Amino acid sequence: MNTITTHDAVQQTRLVEQVVAGQATSDGDGVKLTRVLTQPLQYRLDPFLMLDAFSSDDPDDYIGGFPDHPHRGFETVTYMLAGRMRHRDSAGNEGLLQNGGVQWMTAGRGAIHSELPGQEAGRMAGFQLWLNLPAKDKMIAPWYRDIQSDSIPEFVNPDGVTARVIAGHSHGVNGAVQREITQPLYLDLHLPQGASFAQTLPASFNGFVYVYEGEVQIADRAVPQQRMAILKKNPAADGVILQANIASRALLIAGQPLGETIVQYGPFVMNSQAEIFQAINDFRAGQLVSAE
Ligand code: CO
Repeated sequence: MNTITTHDAVQQTRLVEQVVAGQATSDGDGVKLTRVLTQPLQYRLDPFLMLDAFSSDDPDDYIGGFPDHPHRGFETVTYMLAGRMRHRDSAGNEGLLQNGGVQWMTAGRGAIHSELPGQEAGRMAGFQLWLNLPAKDKMIAPWYRDIQSDSIPEFVNPDGVTARVIAGHSHGVNGAVQREITQPLYLDLHLPQGASFAQTLPASFNGFVYVYEGEVQIADRAVPQQRMAILKKNPAADGVILQANIASRALLIAGQPLGETIVQYGPFVMNSQAEIFQAINDFRAGQLVSAE
């Protein structure tokens, strides 16, 4: 792990535009979760389409997992904080995702996969983020990568904040995954009480913070546990400064908006209704099973 000695200076922090609680729901075969980034926020938080948070000690909340289902047109990023999830897909990929690991799947033109618990008891906690693909890449070949916890770059800032860099760049540290067009930044921050973390952000980026433990202060707003703060866009702000009111853990996610039409039908996210009909027809015709 690297220790960095200087703050990436942020002269003016973005403010909080809105604090969002998300919606309790279930998905897959009865997995209980909170949909933090919901469909009505897709344009506001472009290029991000969805964020689900799940955390339970009760196997009844997760044991059904997510049996075979298709995706087309975007990427899914699953980050496990605790527990074990086994995934398989129609391209023959298989892997075990556990404690601190990430699975990055590019559905592209189509993949069918399952995500099933690799445990019958104990805590299961983590997140699934959906990252949109630009129109020109929606039909690319499916791709996936399992990133074990010890392969996720980390650093500690002078305040003792540990930053895990899943995607993008932070304080000169390159994350595990980079994307050219949407330039996603995905940080998991562990902040001791009173500590600050500054992150520069291009003015064009949409961004949000999800506090999953503790309470984080952003300018004049306290963001409590299990709340998402949407960061206000302001050409004069060059980043965001987070301060932990108590020991806290939070995701900081930001990226370059695509500015394209978003049409979602369940697990398919395309640019037009016609492309959605095509996806449904292809799925019914069994054409989402082949991946090269
Ligand atoms: Co899925």
